[in-house]
Amino acid sequence: MSSKDQDSAEAGEEPQAAEDQPSNLGDYDLGRPIDASRGMRAGLTSYGDAHFSLFLRKVFIKALGYSEAALSRPIVGIVNTYSAFNPCHANVPQLVEAVKRGAQLSGGLAIEFPTISLHESFAAPTSMYLRNLMSMDTEEMIAAQPVDGVVLIGGCDKTTPAQLMGGISANKPILHLVTGPMMPGSHRGVRIGACTDCRNNWASYRAGVIDIEEIAALNEELAPTAGTCGVMGTASTMACILVGLGLMPFKGATAPAVSSARLRIAEETGANAVKVIAAGERLKPQALLTRESFLNAITVLQAIGGSTNAVVHIMAIINRHPKLAGTITLDTFDEIGRHTPLLVDLKPSGANYMSDFHNSGGMAALLLELRPILHLDALTITGKTLGEALDAERVIPVPQHLRCIQPFDAPLHPCSSLVVLRGNLAPGGAVMKASASKDRRLLRHSGPAVVFAGSADLALRIDDENLEVTPDSVLVLQNIGPVGNPGMPEAGLVPIPRKLAARGVTDMLRVSDGRMSGTAGGTIVLHVSPEAADPESVLGVVRDGDVVTCDVEARVLRVEISDEEIERRRVERREVLAKGDSEHPWKARERMRGYRGLYMREVNQADQGADFDFLRAGFEG
Ligand code: FES
Repeated sequence: MSSKDQDSAEAGEEPQAAEDQPSNLGDYDLGRPIDASRGMRAGLTSYGDAHFSLFLRKVFIKALGYSEAALSRPIVGIVNTYSAFNPCHANVPQLVEAVKRGAQLSGGLAIEFPTISLHESFAAPTSMYLRNLMSMDTEEMIAAQPVDGVVLIGGCDKTTPAQLMGGISANKPILHLVTGPMMPGSHRGVRIGACTDCRNNWASYRAGVIDIEEIAALNEELAPTAGTCGVMGTASTMACILVGLGLMPFKGATAPAVSSARLRIAEETGANAVKVIAAGERLKPQALLTRESFLNAITVLQAIGGSTNAVVHIMAIINRHPKLAGTITLDTFDEIGRHTPLLVDLKPSGANYMSDFHNSGGMAALLLELRPILHLDALTITGKTLGEALDAERVIPVPQHLRCIQPFDAPLHPCSSLVVLRGNLAPGGAVMKASASKDRRLLRHSGPAVVFAGSADLALRIDDENLEVTPDSVLVLQNIGPVGNPGMPEAGLVPIPRKLAARGVTDMLRVSDGRMSGTAGGTIVLHVSPEAADPESVLGVVRDGDVVTCDVEARVLRVEISDEEIERRRVERREVLAKGDSEHPWKARERMRGYRGLYMREVNQADQGADFDFLRAGFEG
């Protein structure tokens, strides 16, 4: 970019028309230093001769047909996460075109490039296992390539967190664009949608309530369009959080994937990218995102009854930020929850779908309700504060029967959708979505543990007619934490034993170190830290018949055995490990190769975000 263009970009003016661009002979003038701060001249490949590096770069980019005039524009990178294995991202090609249109109409040059794409059902062992890899891919590709800023197109559960983690670490201007939620389907006149209704109907099928023909018919209709799951699952939660953080326009979270509104948002995002690049340091993620931005995001999480997975993701995201790492903990989520009402009536906590939320005014309407408890001075990607952006919004009148956003003073639930529990069973903390409990008596409950040593043990015994279990039992699932079962699977929704389900039992207290889909519900304690595979973990030494107590009001999760007995069992475990139980993941990880070895050795616990330790802020890059 010429210095004149750069000046005008910084002043927010339109760059010159292409035909007016000056000659770029200066790029080959060996007596003139290269301005490597922006555009094609930035981040030159190392050949030991910067002028030659630029010369060579231009040789190759011209193979794609670009002119000098085009190459002098601010470069908007578009992260393309289309994959034929990712139906949640099926609309990415159209979104890329719309972003390009917006960027180029505003004077930028849009260049797309691919990164890893992750879909929940097409990533083994889990998409979470690959989230950190995607974040590394995103960070390194943003850092390595000559982009002045990027539009990150994501959507499915792990993609947006991975992109934000990588984007904060790379610290070039980032703008998020999600693919948007799918529309609901219909079965026998009843609206249905992935994935809450996938789980509800599968539970009914397991209990013998619906037959094999009906479950097959449901399979055809649960995901009727492209887009992310149409309830308040992790994808929708993370989209709303991006708005709460100020990184996406209000409409950006909820407009359906298949709507024309989604394409207009994409075009607007491309145009905004040019402005954000021109704004310089102020709108780079490490400057834009403050503690208040995150407090707003956590307020949104509580008010929407969002996914428990978001707690893990937000912790990982915060810990990538050099100024904020360590300043927000699980307890911050609980504190905010205590004064944040549940306002959004969406599955799995409520009854509606994302398209209803959008039609009720979406995030703008929600944030207007939450205004008294938001930090309105937090900056947004528009360059305005959240308060200024909300001043420009008006509440859209929606008939009561179509509303799924409750007024602040008439909430669905007064507070604490998500709670953090602590006690001898979870000294590092555990998380529960209390608002999704199906049997609220279980929010204060003590019962004998029925312990499963892992997913395989669970699959083997859960439906055994001889399993000694009653509705008062506490189902404890061990070894599905970050290391114990790489990727921390969404297996925390332990199924109700079939013999109890057939008797009409629909909820039990369940405890694990794993995760649960944001689309699932029940009285379920998740993310117990430290995980059972850790030799020091108390969860790892719980046995059948131990009494487990959960008291949500008191925020307690405890096993009723003495400290001496806990220590005696730990010593036993240590002895087994010391004898060389080489299959134990805590030991076996030392000799693992490749990404699996990297993951196993470096992943931290859920309360830290299950990120790789060396990716946290504080390490030099
Ligand atoms: Fe992609 Fe649910 S599977 S959002």
